[in-house]
Order: sequence, then C-alpha cells, then structure tokens
Amino acid sequence: MSSTENWIAVGSVSDISPDTGTLRVMVEGEAVCLYKLDDTVHATQDRCTHGQASLAEGYIEDGLIECPLHQGCFDIRTGAAVTAPCKEPIRVYPVKVEGDTIYVEANP
Ligand code: FES
Repeated sequence: MSSTENWIAVGSVSDISPDTGTLRVMVEGEAVCLYKLDDTVHATQDRCTHGQASLAEGYIEDGLIECPLHQGCFDIRTGAAVTAPCKEPIRVYPVKVEGDTIYVEANP
C-alpha cells in the first residue's frame, strides 16, 4: 500500500438495504452513497449534481441510480450523468471489501 492511499472503513455489506440497494455514509465530511449492484459494492458522492437530493433515496435500475427529486440518472460505475436534467457527473470512489467490511478510498 502506498502512502498516498487512504482507505477508510465505512460500513458493512450487510448494512446496505436489500430493499433499496443503497446506504448513505460519511467519508471525511462528505456524504457518500454505497450501492450493491449484483454482488459488487460501488460508491459515489451522495448529493445529486442537479440539486440537493440524496441519491441514497433514489432507485437503482440497470446499473443507474435515479435521483428521487427530478428523476435524472447517473451511471453508478462511472458517475456519468446519463439523463436530463443531470449534466455534471458525480464523483466515484474506489471501493474494496474485506470480509463484510467496506472500505472507500478517500483520496484516489
Ligand atoms: Fe437530482 Fe434534480 S436534484 S435530478
């Protein structure tokens, strides 16, 4: 592990809601949304780039997270804004899982 890596334990895979597939956590003061997509955990910034909505309250469909406020969608794997009104991408965080513990790289 290089000295620039900064893996932070943020929760457990079992904490991710089986209903929504999401979990909102804080990483160094930033709200981050964890997703369980198939059997892989992903992480993005939690705040929609269009407004102030929490993506953890949105809906996952076909690898996209749909914002609960105006239904704009982002690609969970890449952070790309896929549908209007979202234009700016969301930040994506590297994730690793050891046992049941999820780690997010805060300074990728
Ligand atoms: Fe997310 Fe408007 S706040 S689409």
